[in-house]
Amino acid sequence: MGILFDKYLIDMSKEEDSVAWLTNEEKGVRVSKFTPPFFPDARDEIGEIVMMHGQVPEKFQNKYYEVIYHEHLDTAETFFVTDGEMECITLGEKMVLHPGDIIHVPCYLGHSFRARTPYARLIVMFQTEYMNIAHAHQVYLREHHFEEASNPANAGKRAAEHHQIHRDNTYYYDTAPVATSSPTYRRFGYGIRSHTFPGIKLNLMVGRYETYGVKEVWEAEMKKGVRIENNAVRYDHRLFWIREGRVRFTIDGTEVEAYPNCLVYVPPYHCFDFEVLEDADIVDLSCPYQLQDLLEELRLILNKYPEKLKNDAVMNELFARFKADRVKYSFNG
Ligand SMILES: [Fe+2]
Repeated sequence: MGILFDKYLIDMSKEEDSVAWLTNEEKGVRVSKFTPPFFPDARDEIGEIVMMHGQVPEKFQNKYYEVIYHEHLDTAETFFVTDGEMECITLGEKMVLHPGDIIHVPCYLGHSFRARTPYARLIVMFQTEYMNIAHAHQVYLREHHFEEASNPANAGKRAAEHHQIHRDNTYYYDTAPVATSSPTYRRFGYGIRSHTFPGIKLNLMVGRYETYGVKEVWEAEMKKGVRIENNAVRYDHRLFWIREGRVRFTIDGTEVEAYPNCLVYVPPYHCFDFEVLEDADIVDLSCPYQLQDLLEELRLILNKYPEKLKNDAVMNELFARFKADRVKYSFNG
């Protein structure tokens, strides 16, 4: 996988749109990767884990795939359940996740996933993890030092090489789920904070205070007829996930029509517009703006000093302070 990446539209159901697509029939798992870790923070490496118990031959039924209980020393990950039911262990308790549920995992938060239904799918977004390098490292060690690399007694050392701590999850196999939430549990449709505009509801799913200041994650529930024009040229890439609906993006003059299960990547220094063709649910996976802060201040201005909204100098200063671009927005609903 190269470090340069300039594909605008990625359909996550297509192997040809992935940068890696590995199926292990024996364990009943497919692990795919759709984007590399982006420079300079190694953010937004997006992958997918599909667990298929239903397809595992009976003799392997007790060996099926799981994400074992572990925690990272310097990584944040965001897990989105899209299909099936998933068991998740976090903070020493097991809970059950359903489609639309999210667990955001900052470093030192233990986490583990295991399917509860014959088909379960998890989208994973890494920050500062370099999964591609970690995977290549594991493959190399297994090829050249098979015995040491596959000896369970060395699991702790191997985890340490990848800046992880392994946790023991054997206890949890036989215990029933007891937790109904976790501090970093989220659900689409319900933001930590939400903001409503004509045709748009923005839900804060992951705050900047949870990503070491690198980004925010927002869900945008948008009605047909919303149009955004963004002519600002900036260094940050943008990455959107279309969960529902249809959206036409124009990225530096090239039109792409995005539909459910697509990622839309806007490379650095590219302008983009988009128009919502059918009511849509779009996730801004890597919002570079301090958007929550900006929206708090805009609400204050609207309520207390509405005349300032027409003052270009005040607005320019406000947007610059929170690293945001002034976009053109219209809604013909
Ligand atoms: Fe992890």
